[in-house]
Amino acid sequence: MVLNSKVVLVTGACGLLGEAFVKAIAGQQGKVVITDIDVLKGKQLCQEINQSYPEEVALFQQLDITDRNMLRHCIHEVVAKFGKIDALVNNAYPRNQHYGRDFFDVEFVDFCENINAHLGGYFLAGQQFAQYFIKQGFGNIINIASIYGIIAPKFHIYADTTMTTPVEYALVKSAVVHLTKFMASKLAGHNIRVNTLSLGGILARQPDRFLDSYRRCCFNKGMLEPEDVVGGLLFLLSDMSLFINGQNIVIDDGFTVA
Ligand SMILES: NC(=O)c1ccc[n+]([C@@H]2O[C@H](COP(=O)([O-])OP(=O)(O)OC[C@H]3O[C@@H](n4cnc5c(N)ncnc54)[C@H](O)[C@@H]3O)[C@@H](O)[C@H]2O)c1
Repeated sequence: MVLNSKVVLVTGACGLLGEAFVKAIAGQQGKVVITDIDVLKGKQLCQEINQSYPEEVALFQQLDITDRNMLRHCIHEVVAKFGKIDALVNNAYPRNQHYGRDFFDVEFVDFCENINAHLGGYFLAGQQFAQYFIKQGFGNIINIASIYGIIAPKFHIYADTTMTTPVEYALVKSAVVHLTKFMASKLAGHNIRVNTLSLGGILARQPDRFLDSYRRCCFNKGMLEPEDVVGGLLFLLSDMSLFINGQNIVIDDGFTVA
């Protein structure tokens, strides 16, 4: 098995991708820490995973990535339970109630709030785990980013839909790619690696018109299923990628190069 008792903590684990990630980690003999602000879903998911295995492989911890005390408490609880933490997957997707507006309709206060929670949360979680990983003597951080952190949005694919690429999203995800490089460099010599996994769009009942336009920007499938991208995460979590550090691995069916 690829993970062989590695302890992996996933933030935003109750979401579309997070659920696929934590199930894949448990499926490769990892111990998985499900963290999210959604306590009800987190407990249910944890129970569902644990019921599928003879021993306890999953733990739920309530965690808001913008709260330093919760991050510290969470690290403490996980180490008390499993004795170590091998990896952090920075996957949460914080956004406020006005998120997703067209560029010209974004209010400054919402812009700042969304950047603070999303980019700020990835920074804060990375900082707190890095501090722990230095003490532990090893660690692995994977920051989840997006095609929109790499290339300019292709706005024509949203024609006749209410969808868009929010400006905050593009800025946060491009900054996350650089946060990865910054942290990999800062943590050199500590046996801690930091990488980005940039993903293409994931299927979630988007309108057919959009799906067709999106597919024309790719090489084969177009929008992907969560299960199509878990292999990249497992690779970065495993010892097969031991000397991949500071990099950005893109899984997007060619969207960023087509
Ligand atoms: N869905 C896609 O098409 C897609 C594509 C590329 C990259 N991504 C990235 O993948 C990651 C997961 O996306 P998703 O589509 O699964 O999102 P999602 O909205 O389905 O899930 C996000 C989860 O984050 C949790 N969350 C929100 N604020 C939080 C906070 N402050 N602290 C902790 N948890 C919090 C939510 O409760 C939710 O369970 C994000 O980083 C996203 O940008 C998604």
